[in-house]
Amino acid sequence: MKKRNKNKSRRKFIKNSALAGGSFLIVPRHVLGKGYLAPSDRLNLAAIGSGGKGYSDIRNAADNGTNQVVALCDVDSKAAEKAMTEFPKAKFYKDFRLMLEEMGDDIDAITISTPDHVHGIAAYAAIGLGKHVYVQKPLTHNIYEARKLTEAARKHKVVTQMGNQGASHPGQVQMRQWFDTGLIGDVHTVEVWTNRPVWPQGIPVPTEKTPLPSHLSNDDWDLYIGPAKHVDYHPLYYHFKWRGWWNFGTGALGDMGCHIIDIPFKTMGLGYPTSVEASVGAVYKRDWNPEYIPEGCPPSSRVQINFPASEKNNKAVKMIWSDGGIRPFHPDLIPAEDDLGGDGSYNGVIMIGDKGVITCDVYGTNPKLYRKGEEVLTMPKDFDGGNKYLDYPELGHQKSWTEACKAGFNSKEHLALTSSFDYSGPLTETVLMGNLAIRSYNLYHENGNGSRDYFGRTKLLWDGQKMKVTNLEEANQFVKREYRNSWDLI
Ligand SMILES: NC(=O)c1ccc[n+]([C@@H]2O[C@H](COP(=O)([O-])OP(=O)(O)OC[C@H]3O[C@@H](n4cnc5c(N)ncnc54)[C@H](O)[C@@H]3O)[C@@H](O)[C@H]2O)c1
Repeated sequence: MKKRNKNKSRRKFIKNSALAGGSFLIVPRHVLGKGYLAPSDRLNLAAIGSGGKGYSDIRNAADNGTNQVVALCDVDSKAAEKAMTEFPKAKFYKDFRLMLEEMGDDIDAITISTPDHVHGIAAYAAIGLGKHVYVQKPLTHNIYEARKLTEAARKHKVVTQMGNQGASHPGQVQMRQWFDTGLIGDVHTVEVWTNRPVWPQGIPVPTEKTPLPSHLSNDDWDLYIGPAKHVDYHPLYYHFKWRGWWNFGTGALGDMGCHIIDIPFKTMGLGYPTSVEASVGAVYKRDWNPEYIPEGCPPSSRVQINFPASEKNNKAVKMIWSDGGIRPFHPDLIPAEDDLGGDGSYNGVIMIGDKGVITCDVYGTNPKLYRKGEEVLTMPKDFDGGNKYLDYPELGHQKSWTEACKAGFNSKEHLALTSSFDYSGPLTETVLMGNLAIRSYNLYHENGNGSRDYFGRTKLLWDGQKMKVTNLEEANQFVKREYRNSWDLI
């Protein structure tokens, strides 16, 4: 996609104004009158993926008219109806490439809330045109894309945020304060888990032909598949359910890892892992013969991701991820009658240190500190952790991003973002390392006697800088993917 030079773009104007004075408004609000927004104070927004989560992402970014939505893109016009009704002036597109080409000069910032397989390719194209981006979690479908986006955001000086809104929850600040003041000492073990998948997963590939819904054309389906491998339409690949297929989604770990692993990753300032090992649930339709479904994410998995000591934590950390109904056991300091993480123990984090244990539910809610012989500490009700947008939807995760876009690259608002790509890129790479091990688990050679040698069931050693498994070449096929037809990172 070529950058268009005609006229002076609004984006350039906005960036230059921010650079010139640090103050954004050209005409102060009091001169213009109460309730009047200077044109320069409004972002022109677009959404790629406007149904599902995309609707609330663009609505929250528009922030009750503080910013204006000029374009909406969704391959499924029915899924986008709610957004189109709410933003009737926005031009509607089915193909984001066309939207960027036709409206590139009119768009400042873009929310990207498609299924995971499109995040990387859409965000890379948008960033290349200098657009600020808010990209849903996981940032990308594979490790390579996460690295490319992180580098591109720096190169093009755009303001970025991944959509793991729990990163803006004050509970996370509270836990960091507990950890930073040494209340649990150095952490050696972390348990992280989710009740996902809560969609069909670990099931055989559907073989029956199913007609497209009447409102979708073959071209719409082709756009939906985008860079992924071609498959015929099936409802099991469509809204929400795409999560269970590697072609489109990233399984339970990809879906929830960026919410849950975020917490220990940031609390302890972790970096690239050094190794990873997985163990994966099997499905039996016949005695003794497990189904082999490389296209599908597994029904359950357990993954251990190993980290070296960090600047904030003097010990190496074993992080154990569980999903599909598997959850951790009570560590010594948590009383038997207490739920783990949140109510019902469905999701959570347990960080076990030399002197105590910190736990919380998904998004960093319900933080608790356990120490031997002491009362359990919880977060005071009025603790705000410095988030001035606490009353906004999703704790202002989109609002803080739009405000940072206006303030400009490297502004204090930008640097204060809780999930800009400098942070969420490496976090996503780490989460997707787990998927690399899960997918490697079912790699096999035929032994010749009818049995299989599952050679990927091993501890994988990882060179984070080089994005490479160093002891099993075959596992490196999952670092990046082949793109279909003309799709590519541009
Ligand atoms: N942060 C959160 O709490 C949260 C919650 C739900 C979903 N999500 C994330 O949001 C993303 C979407 O999930 P969902 O549950 O809304 O899925 P969904 O299937 O319900 O919605 C995805 C939308 O994207 C559209 N789409 C698909 N391909 C497209 C393309 N190439 N161009 C434009 N539009 C396209 C679909 O038609 C659909 O409207 C995922 O990455 C998911 O992980 C985040």
